[in-house]
Amino acid sequence: MRFGLPRIAYVNGRMVPLGSAGVSIEDRGFQFADGVYEVCAVLNGTLLDWQPHLQRLARSLSELEIRPPMTPAAFGLVAQRVLRENRIRDGLLYVQVTRGAARRDHPFPAFTTPTLVMTARPFDFRQRVRQQSTGISVVTRPEIRWARRDIKSVALLPNVLAKQAAKRAGAFEAWFVAADGRVSEGGSTNAWIVTGDGSIVTHPADNDILAGVMRGTLIRLAHERQLKVEERVFTMAEARHAVEAFITSTTAPCLPVVAIDGRSVGEGRPGPVTTRLADMLWQEIARQTGWRP
Ligand SMILES: Cc1ncc(COP(=O)(O)O)c(C=O)c1O
Repeated sequence: MRFGLPRIAYVNGRMVPLGSAGVSIEDRGFQFADGVYEVCAVLNGTLLDWQPHLQRLARSLSELEIRPPMTPAAFGLVAQRVLRENRIRDGLLYVQVTRGAARRDHPFPAFTTPTLVMTARPFDFRQRVRQQSTGISVVTRPEIRWARRDIKSVALLPNVLAKQAAKRAGAFEAWFVAADGRVSEGGSTNAWIVTGDGSIVTHPADNDILAGVMRGTLIRLAHERQLKVEERVFTMAEARHAVEAFITSTTAPCLPVVAIDGRSVGEGRPGPVTTRLADMLWQEIARQTGWRP
């Protein structure tokens, strides 16, 4: 953001300065975390993978029986307006929908209008290109989340705690590990390993993880290039012996993991498979948006 330009938020049909934007204190998002969200990358003024994000939002809403506040086309128009008003060239668009405001009572209210908020902020994706050459480290945390992680719910407290633990440890991300050793995903990223035979492995897109949009894009690109992708569970024991590991997400398209809990992965530096996959993603990003580092 250029200095002095006030940020503008979309709140239930109005564009308002971020500082004075607000929703009811009886909003069910505030009281029960009864809502869902999306984070989309904007590069060169263009929304990356907008359709998959919209589809995932529709699915999250439908799983929670929250009425979509507008049509997919209208979502697109509002998103463009938010990006324009905030002069976003490279940045992140945040979309949140909650069940709406109602007198506090756990069951769904009979008549409520969903709350829709959209905000945008600048984000420099070049930092990710730099991190790609050094790699990042992760710590592991116990999997303490609910059993519907496929819904992109705003109930992110376990993720907040895990990411704080990572930050304290000087790591970029925390991987959730179940009691039996299974690695589900990171606090805000999907987790991957590369095995000795060159297979690229990530947790299946079931109820235990959020099916990342970047995860989906990477699987599609890898298949197009006849690379071997296995969507299956892997354990920490397997991750420790992996030749490479990496993470994917909207805000960190593909970053090599060079250490887990202070122990090197493979040779302790970004490996060739991850580097190739990251290059593939940047090419796809360039194809969709024209963005280049
Ligand atoms: C728990 C979790 N897993 C994975 C992801 C990656 O998803 P995406 O690639 O759509 O950003 C996110 C993104 O926020 C997340 O919160």
